[in-house]
Amino acid sequence: MANIELPVRDSFSSKLGVIAAAAGSAVGLGNIWRFPYVTGENGGGAFLLIYLCFVFAIGFPVMLAEFTIGRRAKRNALGSFKKLAPGKPWYLIGSMGIVAAFMILAFYSTIAGWTLEYLVQAFANGFEGKTSEQFTRSFEVFQSGSFRPLLWQLVFMFLTAFIIYKGVKNGIEKYTKVLMPLLVVLIIIICIRSLTLEGAKEGLDFLFRPDFSKIKLTVVLKALGQAAFSLSIGMGTLITYGSYIQRDNNLPVTALQVSLADTIIAILAGVMIFPAVFAFNINPAEGPGLVFIVLPNIFEQMAGGYFFAIIFFTLLAIAALTSTVSVLEVVVAYFSEELNMKRGKATIIAAVAISIVGMFATLSFGPLKNALIFGRTIFDWFDYLSANILLPLGAILIVIFVGWYLGKKKVRDELSNQGELKGSFVNVFMVIVKFIAPIAITLAFLYGLGLIS
Ligand code: PHE
Repeated sequence: MANIELPVRDSFSSKLGVIAAAAGSAVGLGNIWRFPYVTGENGGGAFLLIYLCFVFAIGFPVMLAEFTIGRRAKRNALGSFKKLAPGKPWYLIGSMGIVAAFMILAFYSTIAGWTLEYLVQAFANGFEGKTSEQFTRSFEVFQSGSFRPLLWQLVFMFLTAFIIYKGVKNGIEKYTKVLMPLLVVLIIIICIRSLTLEGAKEGLDFLFRPDFSKIKLTVVLKALGQAAFSLSIGMGTLITYGSYIQRDNNLPVTALQVSLADTIIAILAGVMIFPAVFAFNINPAEGPGLVFIVLPNIFEQMAGGYFFAIIFFTLLAIAALTSTVSVLEVVVAYFSEELNMKRGKATIIAAVAISIVGMFATLSFGPLKNALIFGRTIFDWFDYLSANILLPLGAILIVIFVGWYLGKKKVRDELSNQGELKGSFVNVFMVIVKFIAPIAITLAFLYGLGLIS
């Protein structure tokens, strides 16, 4: 295929770099903060089971579909559709992705800011001698304030913008390779402490024993939303990253590795948190504060807890950073390639605009707590709309694009690296993207929104 490419496009330098960056995007607050609290709110084990089905039957194929689009087109999330389907409205999938990126980063940076506050508290030995009630209380006091949560949010946005400004290869790719494995080791250590707490078994039962009587139909959509959010699919992050992946990368293997890594870390986060939730008598449906209340509790009860707390919150902040970077990159790649802005200018404009929107999300826990729109705060709306609506919708359209528009021949080309790899997976993949994924996501949607039951 004759390929006219832009001369100076950045790319990842190695296979490991691709995995580190993509897993860095996938693994983040979605796994350690969102997964446990959403699982807690939606009944535990049965939710986990539905979640796992969605990750492997749908999430993984959508990830592969995004890599395919990105690597083939070598453009940003919107430009890729324009290039592969000139003159057709498919690029609207990309526009939706840009909107989703704004919303996600707006509320994500709130929580990312919280991790910095807790890191500082960990340094200052702020967890020492507190009771379970005190942890809950001090979290509520912090969260409902204005100055500190806003300050940390802006600091976090600045760090994100700084890395994007520098380019991805020499920053994120280099550090994630070392830091992500360290995060896993640390989670395992904390899991061991959590599992040896008295009453741990109840937490494990909650996580691993499905109780289907707890399942309401709306839960299906939440499980799908969580899967999409956690895997970073449905908004073009992985199209953008896919566009930096080199020709010889085995895309199906990469997508599988990233999906597996993401799932393992989410489950480990559950094993780290639920035993402690029950041991310390915390409500598993506590909501967005769950990990910020439970983890300090564990550290307080751990030999060497002071150091573990510092290392843990450092890594959590880094895991969040490698995700926020991937979201901002979607917007910046779009601004610079489609609107012809210089990378620096694109970064500043995107980061400032998102920070302004994000401040409303942060204040939703404090001064704007009662500013409800149809029963939800602004934060809740950003979270709900992006994860449960825009990402699944984006995912449906992406698989339909790949299955019905791009077509088997081009897909085979990408999945087999122009015939160099076997590509025996292509037939199954086509069935999934043409039929199974669109139908399953549509059903989850209709159930979740209460349109069928
Ligand atoms: N997957 C990230 C996480 O789990 C969040 C994210 C969503 C990143 C969508 C990029 C796109 O934290």
